[in-house]
Parts: sequence; C-alpha cells; structure tokens
Amino acid sequence: TGVESCAAAPIGPSYREKDQKPQATVSGKIKFDTVHVLPQTPQLIALLTIIRDKNTQRGDFIFYSNRIIRLLVEEGLNHLPVEGHEVTTPLGRTYAGVRFEGKICGVSIMRAGESMEQGLRDCCRSVRIGKILIQRDEETAQPKLFYHKLPADIADRWVLLLDPMNATGGSASMAVEVLKSKGVAEERILFLNLIASPEGLEHFASKFPKLRVITAFIDEGLDDKNYIVPGLGDFGDRHFGTL
Ligand code: PRP
Ligand code: URA
Repeated sequence: TGVESCAAAPIGPSYREKDQKPQATVSGKIKFDTVHVLPQTPQLIALLTIIRDKNTQRGDFIFYSNRIIRLLVEEGLNHLPVEGHEVTTPLGRTYAGVRFEGKICGVSIMRAGESMEQGLRDCCRSVRIGKILIQRDEETAQPKLFYHKLPADIADRWVLLLDPMNATGGSASMAVEVLKSKGVAEERILFLNLIASPEGLEHFASKFPKLRVITAFIDEGLDDKNYIVPGLGDFGDRHFGTL
C-alpha cells in the first residue's frame, strides 16, 4: 500500500538527547498530498496515550479528546484560503496581514462527530453546523444513512466534515456523497479526523483525490470486526457514556 506503517520514534523536547527520550509509537505516513497528519509532538502523543487507555474514565476521555480536536480544528483552518488585509494599529502604523476569504460551515457525522462541534465553535464563533446521521451496522460494518440537515447555501461554503474515527472509510465516504449531491465541490471539503486506519484512509483519499484530510494519527490497521487497532475502542460509546 501507499502507507508507511506506524513505528517507534524517540519522543521528547528537542533539547534532550535522543537516548534520553522514550520510544513511542508514532503515526504511519501516507503518500497523498491531500492528507495531512498532525505533527507527532510530545503533547499530541501524550494526549493520544490518555484517550487510548481503556482505564481512562469518561470525564478525562472528553477533556483530552477535546484538546486533540482543538489541534485538528486549528490545523484545518490553515487549509482555508486567505486574502490580504491591511489594518492600522493604535500607533498609527499599518500592518499588512490576511483574513479568511469565503464562508465556512461544519458538518458532523452523528453520533461521534458531534463531539467535535464544540471545538469548531470555540474557534469559529456562531459557525453554522449541518448534521448527517450515519450508523455502521454492528455486524457488517456497512454504513447506513438515516438523516441529514444542512445549511441551504452549503454549496457556497467551505465544509469542515467532522468524524473522530475513519475505520473502513465507509461512513465518511457516504457523508461526502451527501455533500456532493448538495453541490459541494470536493476541493471545498476538509475532513477532520482523530484516528484513521491505513486502509480506510487510502480508500477515502483515492476515491476523493481533491478532498483534504487532516488526521491526528494513522493507526496500524483494522481487526476482524473492522475496529481500528490499537485504536481507542468505540469513540461514540466512550464519549457519550453508552458502553
Ligand atoms: C463510528 C465512527 C465513524 C464510523 C467509522 O460510528 O464514529 O462514523 O464508525 O467507521 P467506518 O469508517 O468503517 O465507516 P458508528 O457508526 O459506530 O456510530 P456512533 O457515532 O454512534 O458511535
Ligand atoms: N468506530 C469507532 O468508534 N471505533 C473504531 O475503531 C471503528 C469505528
């Protein structure tokens, strides 16, 4: 495949010698220009370590996954176009800056994707949020579409598609088809995702070559029930407390 698998790497601040840094498993790499994996910083690895731990209780799971979601949203916003914008400071001097060009909206894939809405709102006040309810069949892992409600002018917006887990890629692909059927161009969609499987991500990225993906981690693979491994279990169940 076009994925370089997860590997052990020394993790720690740059002032530490390599042999003073513990080894941790870092994300796999994928050869698609449209896929961006968050930098594997000590902070990100420490946050992922907490949410992957089966002994992490719900309150901590929510708190620490929210911190990763915030990193994903901040990085996602860097992929939106900007235009030049000059301002005058209180000292009467001008500053040549930029501002975002165009309108955005969020679209969450329910349930688990709803957990990412607040992180988006924290960065983009009063952002519009559409919803697509897709559930995987627990036996076959086939996604089923139940409901969607999207901003009427979504075709004129940049869409931040939210789902923490990309396993087979089936749910995310189905959501993208819904967005495309509403006139959203693929290149205007950014998929924000916490953990992806190599196969799900590769399938998704080759199916939608113009769509940008921001993920925190490309994991090892899928188990026989199409759960991501090592993964973190069922994100929706851990977030909403329905285990
Ligand atoms: C999970 C997850 C994704 C999907 C990923 O949702 O949040 O939407 O599975 O799997 P896939 O890539 O193989 O489609 P699930 O359907 O379990 O519902 P939930 O959000 O209610 O947990
Ligand atoms: N959905 C999840 O929440 N976790 C997985 O590992 C796969 C699908």
